[in-house]
Amino acid sequence: MSSEHSITARFEDGVELTFSCGEGENILAAAMRQDVRLLCQCRKAYCGSCKALCTEGDYHLGKLINVQVLPPNEEEDGVVVTCDTFPRSEMMLEFPYTSDRLGSMKPAAECSARVVVVEQISSVVYRFVIAPLDTATGASLPFNFVAGQYVEIGIPDTDKARAFSISTAPSAAGELEFLIRLIPGGAFSHYLKTRASVGESVALRGPMGEFVLRPSPRPRALVGGSTGLAPLLSMLRDVASGNRGQDEYHLFFGMQDPASMFFEAELRALAKTMPNLTVHLALMDPPDGWDGFVGNSVAAFAAYFAARADKPDVYLCGPGPMVDAAIAACQRLAIPDAQIYREEFVASGS
Ligand SMILES: Cc1cc2nc3c(=O)[nH]c(=O)nc-3n(C[C@H](O)[C@H](O)[C@H](O)COP(=O)(O)OP(=O)(O)OC[C@H]3O[C@@H](n4cnc5c(N)ncnc54)[C@H](O)[C@@H]3O)c2cc1C
Ligand code: FES
Repeated sequence: MSSEHSITARFEDGVELTFSCGEGENILAAAMRQDVRLLCQCRKAYCGSCKALCTEGDYHLGKLINVQVLPPNEEEDGVVVTCDTFPRSEMMLEFPYTSDRLGSMKPAAECSARVVVVEQISSVVYRFVIAPLDTATGASLPFNFVAGQYVEIGIPDTDKARAFSISTAPSAAGELEFLIRLIPGGAFSHYLKTRASVGESVALRGPMGEFVLRPSPRPRALVGGSTGLAPLLSMLRDVASGNRGQDEYHLFFGMQDPASMFFEAELRALAKTMPNLTVHLALMDPPDGWDGFVGNSVAAFAAYFAARADKPDVYLCGPGPMVDAAIAACQRLAIPDAQIYREEFVASGS
């Protein structure tokens, strides 16, 4: 049996490219090695940008892939995540884009950054601020990104890295802020709680991601659960800094209870500086006198737009179940799929 297999990649415009892939090599790595520059970002099986449909051939999926990135129905249909899929025979793959997009995703840049703030801001959330550095000179490095994008941050003294969305606006160039939910048993969470310290250096890779505001004449609903607030806040801060006109924005953000809530004062202050923004705060277990919504951010969004005739563009971010619930709410509100943008905070490391 040959240990090299021929892989044919077919694109939406009918173009086909063929390259070879060893049995122990993932398809994406093999393509890149032979200068077939397929679309990809994380290369660790969590972003979904490298997916293709296998129409012929045999393969096995790697251990990095989880159900949020490749749900069972897609797996049954033959969808593969090429950065963690290994051929067992010749394969025919169909990619959901035209060949002129090959190479259009630049490899994420790598640099280091200095830790500036490590601060627990609620029972379950840390605020983490870093300043990107020029590795050669140690001077501050301007970090160009689009509001809504994410980076990977390395955990010092390990080979692990995790993905986190930037919550600052691109104009706050010198420092990048992150809102990080503590995951029980999580490696980055453990680092934050036990040894992250101001002044130390961390590795940074990015920016990455397509979850960014799109031009639109419609109102925009930004729906965040827990630290899913981060990229939405970056977008709003960008709007506030003058880059996006006076369109109508609604932010729906919720947590379980007052102990887990964070950035309430910041969001109320942001709404005061942006007459075109309404902030809808939600708590599942509110204290006496709570003037916000009682329930979660998805329910707050659904209740508010059920009472309106127009259909907003919707930006969803948070844990998988929250995003799924929000999509179901959009369907009940008859919001077209093309107006729904999502970023799921799935596990981003092994
Ligand atoms: C594009 C992107 C952007 C993200 N941005 C943010 C952000 O701004 N803020 C933030 O708090 N998180 C964000 N996340 C999620 C975060 O990267 C993961 O939760 C990360 O794995 C946590 O690292 P950890 O080392 O603490 O836990 P890990 O060591 O990675 O995980 C420990 C255990 O928990 C499970 N697990 C980890 N995270 C999740 C999850 N989200 N859902 C279900 N199970 C999980 C793992 O499978 C593992 O079993 C983002 C994820 C993606 C893909
Ligand atoms: S590049 Fe394969 S899932 Fe991100």
